[in-house]
Parts: sequence; C-alpha cells; structure tokens
Amino acid sequence: MIGFCRESWVRYNAAMRWTLADIPWEKFDRAKVDREILRLVKAASLVERNGEDYARYLCGVFAGDAVFQAAARKWGVEEVQHGEALGRWAMLADPSFDHAAACARFTAGFRVDLNAAASVRGSRAGELVARCIVETGTSCYYTALAEASAEPVLQVICRRIAADELRHYKLFLTHLERYLAQEGLGFWGRLGVALGRIRESEDDELAFAYHAANHPELAYDRRRTARDHARRAYAIYRRHHVERGIAMVLKAVGLTPNGRLNRLATNLGWRFMQRRVARWSREAA
Ligand SMILES: [Fe+2]
Ligand SMILES: [Fe+2]
Repeated sequence: MIGFCRESWVRYNAAMRWTLADIPWEKFDRAKVDREILRLVKAASLVERNGEDYARYLCGVFAGDAVFQAAARKWGVEEVQHGEALGRWAMLADPSFDHAAACARFTAGFRVDLNAAASVRGSRAGELVARCIVETGTSCYYTALAEASAEPVLQVICRRIAADELRHYKLFLTHLERYLAQEGLGFWGRLGVALGRIRESEDDELAFAYHAANHPELAYDRRRTARDHARRAYAIYRRHHVERGIAMVLKAVGLTPNGRLNRLATNLGWRFMQRRVARWSREAA
C-alpha cells in the first residue's frame, strides 16, 4: 500500500472523494455504541475540525509554493469534513453533545499559530516529515477505531477517514521528496523530527480536546486528562496497526519500511503500549 506511482496516485486520489451525504446515517444502531469509543470520537472530532487553522499555518510556512498551498487548502477541507462526520455521529450517539459548542471550547483554549512564517520543525522538509507522522498516526488510529467499533455507521466513517489519512500521508511524502532535494535534510534530522512528533502525540492538543469534548465542567488537569485519553486510545490498537504505523514512519525517515528494523520496533512499540494501558487501567480502577 505504501509504494505508489503517479498514475495510481491520481486514480486513488479521485476515487476516494466523499461527502457527509455518502454516509449511511439511517443505519445508525444505538445499541452498538460503545461509551468508551464515543469519548474518543468526541475528542477526535474537535482536533479534526481544527484542520482549517492547520491549513492556514501550512500556507504561511510554505509561502511562495503555490502548488503546495493549493494542496494544503484542499487537505484542510478534508480534515474539517472528518471533524464534521465524527461530530455528527457523536451527536447521534449522545444527543446531549453539542459539537459546535465543544469546538468553540477547544479553539478558545488551543490555538495554532496562524501567523507563523517558518515551520516550528526548523525547515519545510522537517514540517513535511512531521505531517507524515501525524497522517501515519491518524491513518492507523481510524483503522483501529473502525475495527474496534461494532456500530455500523461509525465503521463506515472511520474507514473513509482512514483512507483519506493514508492519501494525506502520500501527499506529504511526495512533497517531502521534493523538499529533501532542495533543502537536504539528512537522515538524523528527519529521524529527530519524527521522534519529536511521535513524543508529542501525548501532548496538550489531544488531551485538551478530550477535556473540552468530555469534561468541560471539570478544571483542566493536563497530565490526568492525557492519560485518560491515551489509556482508551491505546486500548483499541492491535499489533498489526502498530506494524503498519512503524512501516510508514520508517519510510518517511528514509529507511526500509518492512524488514528486521520494523519487527524490532513493532515488538518494542507494541509491548510499550500494552504495558502503559495495563498500568494506567490499574491506576484508574
Ligand atoms: Fe483527519
Ligand atoms: Fe489527514
């Protein structure tokens, strides 16, 4: 799935277009809603809905690159649609959930730097490595959510989103290859950005989204909320999701995606996640 040629990329790109009207909302089955997954979906809907701000940030960082800016704007529209689809599903599952109000709470407390003229990753190539890592994470996350959920409408939404995220990964990877040729970011630089962005997956953005979506009545405790979110999110993963994620990360830093290094990193990553879920579940009990 990770290797692709330009022709197949164009076909894939065109084939994956969808709108909220393509989701079979009438098949929603309340009895199959998992309350823990619902919490994750509410949080994800806020982060995705914020895609417009990220697109503006990217347009600032890539000033003068009209081709990339056009792609980033299109990407932002798709991310917003992910947020709208997940938010609409969350409101079906929990009629007391107000998606628009939750989005407003989230953006009131978490803002992307809309005026940035340079990437926080140090270079445009670094920014694209970070975007590849984010899309790797979301592609694997929505695949795992689709497989973990028994609710048929959520399954469809998550599969659609997971396919988009994989396409986004390929989009940023294509531009990364172009910028690597221009900027010459070496292997260690790419690896440093990738590891830094992976570490940030437990940072304030997801934790605050989880808080704003699920517990706005409580005072925000970043550390506790990050664990509450990560404990539930890690629990939906299976080993093959981690394996695929590692392959995508390895490719983004210029290493062989599927080989001995993948097996080693997958074993370490999978064990690390399982240990964390077990420890945090004990602490939460
Ligand atoms: Fe997304
Ligand atoms: Fe994406």
